[in-house]
Amino acid sequence: MRRRDFMKTPLIAASAAVAGGTGILPGLLGFGAAHAASPAPQVPDIALGNGMKIPQLGLGTSTLVDNAAESVRTAIECGYRLFDTAQSYGNEKQVWEGIKQGGLARKEAFITSKIWTSNMRNSSQRDSIDKSIELLGGEYIDLFMIHWPVKEHIRETWEIMEDYVRKGLIKSIGFSNFNLHHIEALLQYAKIKPVVNQIEIHPYLTQEANVEAIRAHGIAVEAWFPLAHGRALKEDAIIGIGKKHNRSAAQVTLRWHIQRGLIVIPRSRNPAHLAENIKVFDFELSKDEMAAISKLNRNERLIPGGDPDSFSW
Ligand SMILES: NC(=O)c1ccc[n+]([C@@H]2O[C@H](COP(=O)([O-])OP(=O)(O)OC[C@H]3O[C@@H](n4cnc5c(N)ncnc54)[C@H](OP(=O)(O)O)[C@@H]3O)[C@@H](O)[C@H]2O)c1
Repeated sequence: MRRRDFMKTPLIAASAAVAGGTGILPGLLGFGAAHAASPAPQVPDIALGNGMKIPQLGLGTSTLVDNAAESVRTAIECGYRLFDTAQSYGNEKQVWEGIKQGGLARKEAFITSKIWTSNMRNSSQRDSIDKSIELLGGEYIDLFMIHWPVKEHIRETWEIMEDYVRKGLIKSIGFSNFNLHHIEALLQYAKIKPVVNQIEIHPYLTQEANVEAIRAHGIAVEAWFPLAHGRALKEDAIIGIGKKHNRSAAQVTLRWHIQRGLIVIPRSRNPAHLAENIKVFDFELSKDEMAAISKLNRNERLIPGGDPDSFSW
């Protein structure tokens, strides 16, 4: 389907319409059947532009390698169903091992992975995607993304990823760290529409205007470094709000993302933190509390050189 046709579909029209509002997709949020059976907190789904659904909160797994399976298994016990990995994390096998150990049926898990830059530059897209699929259970990947916009290789990589969608080996495709100009260029030729852009968002880098602009294309936004790598948890403003709600600074920060309608993937290797981070769907921040957290913004990227227009990896 070409972009102009895709933008006419009702779901995308709905997404685009709400993008200028509160940021939450009210009619598009719901509880997935796969999560209903969870003993732990229920995580709402966000509807993607292709009609599929993604849990709004999941587990980030970067830097979890030897202990990744254990963290994933514990996360499953806590109710997590979305697991974010990448070729560069070196843990796709362990993430799958954790999903198996956690006893989830394949369709209950939502697995996301990403192609690394070197595999775009040296034409190893197909080999590396085949390997990711094999390491992640051998059937399919729910959402596969371009990790960073290696400009010269985006188009060929995207067209290869589209091929995997047609073969049923990848369900949805998207990207990470794409600026608006990368997205708009890709939409000129994409035959299969991107559904997610995973970008750095936290209280020091709130990206309000960018989030709205991405959503206007019917693309959901997922926040990486949602806790600012743990730094936001020391902020007096956030701790103070937590005291009022009897919640931790991590819960308040994650709730701020959730109320913005973002998908979040906090990472933890600590079982108590894993349990805490998913309990963010039974309280609400006021408008003033949301604004107080957003006021911490200083447009700060936490990875040196992590600007999508000038990264060197
Ligand atoms: N697409 C990209 O380019 C990109 C880049 C970076 C990250 N990511 C993704 O985003 C995910 C999240 O980023 P991140 O893991 O680096 O940062 P993060 O989730 O913002 O923060 C993780 C840090 O917060 C701590 N933490 C978590 N929950 C806590 C709690 N309840 N109380 C106190 N401390 C807590 C963790 O320590 P403990 O282990 O001690 O809990 C860890 O040190 C990654 O795992 C990865 O999947 C994507």
